[in-house]
Formats: sequence, C-alpha cells, structure tokens
Amino acid sequence: DGLNTRAKNNGKLYFGTAVDSSGQSDSNYMNILSNSDDFGQITPANAMKWDTVERSRNSFNFGPGDAVANIAARNGQFLRCHALVWHSQLPSWVGSSGFNNATLIQVMKNHITQTVTHWKGKCGHWDVVNEALNEDGSYRSSPFYNVIGEAFLPIAFAAAAAADPDVKLYYNDYNIETPGAKASGAQRIVRLIKSYGVKIDGVGQQAHLIVGQSPSVATWTSNINAFTSLGVDVAITELDIRTKTPASSSAVAQQAIDYANSVKGCLSNTRCVGITIWDFTDKYSWIPSVFPGEGSALPWDSNLQKKQQVYNGILSGWGSG
Ligand code: G3I
Repeated sequence: DGLNTRAKNNGKLYFGTAVDSSGQSDSNYMNILSNSDDFGQITPANAMKWDTVERSRNSFNFGPGDAVANIAARNGQFLRCHALVWHSQLPSWVGSSGFNNATLIQVMKNHITQTVTHWKGKCGHWDVVNEALNEDGSYRSSPFYNVIGEAFLPIAFAAAAAADPDVKLYYNDYNIETPGAKASGAQRIVRLIKSYGVKIDGVGQQAHLIVGQSPSVATWTSNINAFTSLGVDVAITELDIRTKTPASSSAVAQQAIDYANSVKGCLSNTRCVGITIWDFTDKYSWIPSVFPGEGSALPWDSNLQKKQQVYNGILSGWGSG
C-alpha cells in the first residue's frame, strides 16, 4: 500500500501533496503525482493566490488554478484550495490604494466571492485566511488587519460560506503544531469567528518542521485535541521536515522518525482529517531558496528518486492498517 491508501485505511480523507507550476511540465514528476496510491489530494502551491488570481483589481485569472483543479479531477484527487486572504503574494494595489474600512471590505469580499464561486464544487477545503498571527499570538500587521481590524476574519469566512455553502473553511498557519502563544492565538481566532455566528470548519497546521526539533507524538496529540475540542477539524496542510544539506545518514534516520510522529499525531484524533506534504520532491521545494544550506525535506530526492527510508517512516506512522 502507498501513502494515501494507508491513510484511507486508517479512516483519513487523504494523504496528499502540494504542486507548483514547474512540476506540471515535468513528466516524471507528473507520473509520481498522479499515482493516487500515494497521493489522494493536491494543493496548488501558488496558483490560487491573490497575486495570480486578481493581479489587478477585478480582473480575474483562473487559468493556473484551473490547471491544478484539472489534475485533481483527472486523478480523482481531493482538492485543497489555498489561499484567499493572506498578507504575502498580495498584489500591491490591495495595500496601497487608500482603501478605507468599507472599501477594503468590499475588495476582500469581491475577491473571495469571485474566487470561491469559480471553483465551487471543485474545492473540498479552502484556506480562507492564511498566517494572520505573529509568533506571540498577536495579530500580524497586514492591510486587512490594519484597516479592518480582527473583524476581517469573520467577514472573510462569511463571504466564503455564502459563495459555497459546501466547501470546508479553514484557518491556516505555521508554528501552531505545539502548544504556546501562537497556537492559543489560532484557538482565539476559531472562537472569534464562531462568536460572530460564522462557520469555520477547520484549522490547518502547516508543519514546516526541522529534523530533530519536531513535535513528539504526545505534543502533536494534545495540541490537535486543543483545536478539535473547539468543534473544528484539523488538517496537517504543508508538512516538510528540513535539515542541513547534504543530509547526513543520522539526519535521515531522525527525519523518518519525525515524519512517523507527525502521522501518529494525526492518527490519534479522528478529527484530524488528512496530511499534505509541501510538494513531495526536493526538486521543487521552496526551502533552499528561503533557508540557504537547508532542504532535503521531502520523501523524494531532487532526482525524483524515492527515499525509501523516509517513505517507510511515513508508512510506519500509519501502523499496520
Ligand atoms: O512566478 C515567478 C516567476 O515569474 C519568476 O521568474 C521567479 C523567479 O524567482 O519567481 C516566481 O515566483 C515565485 C513563486 O514562488 C512561484 O514559483 C516567487 O519568487 C516565490 O517567492 C514563491 O514562493 C512561494 C512562497 O509560498 C511565497 O510565499 C513558494 O513557491 C510556495 O511554496 C510558498 O508556500 C507557502 C504557503 O503558501 C504558505 N505557508 C508557507 C509556504 C512556504 O513558504
């Protein structure tokens, strides 16, 4: 059995991967991606972000996102859609056009309504708001927070729910895999949205982790429980576990354990619905360009060869099921 088959055998919705545009013209890459034994779900790494979808005001480009939606449809893969409201990869017109509270709400709602409507029935999940928090749990400065205040969160979720009542709506962030100020901040966001009478279905724990510094199974478990006890699902949405390159054999052995622990954490709670790795191959990983000298974070290497030890680590996390 492959990664996705094993996840499904354990009651999860999927095991999946992000896909970026560079991989889509690489036939070896596409062959591995399209094997639904390993990947039952995909997320566009960039194609549905604001700077692609609405680079200039009210002019929409759904082509790159459609390409990913078509791959998912062709392969029968669950589509996680990412990300509607985010301070990064946000075209400058959104932050610099002198919008006030009323007009920025209008701009944000229009973006959400057009985008969610376009992929209605295709997206299983939407990351509605991405990375709204600082490490101390306070709100991050962004055009949305600075102009609208924290109400931008419930307003965004309400607009998404109105455009597609069936898609599951997620808040997504990193460094919320362990208990602490930022995880508490994300829990505050869940309560805030619910306090407005607005629907939030889940929280995405991105899980951009570091070999040897990844959460234990017990930490994963208690932290996931802290979210699901608020009445939302959890998804592990962008898992990768980086190390210094080239990876030493001891780092690879530890990485296999760290991957297994992440799987076991999700397995411990039925409301953890699935796991997505942030691309499956080092060939297209975002890590080396952001963290020079680090990488080797994924279960396929930069030649698209499977790293059997890491792959087996993930499988072993699922246990015998
Ligand atoms: O599209 C341009 C291309 O025209 C140009 O030639 C090229 C030169 O560098 O850059 C291309 O844009 C890059 C884009 O990825 C598409 O590949 C950007 O420079 C680069 O910054 C961008 O990086 C993405 C990053 O988000 C930006 O924040 C990564 O691919 C993507 O994997 C990463 O994903 C994020 C999640 O959305 C949210 N959580 C963190 C995660 C990792 O940073």
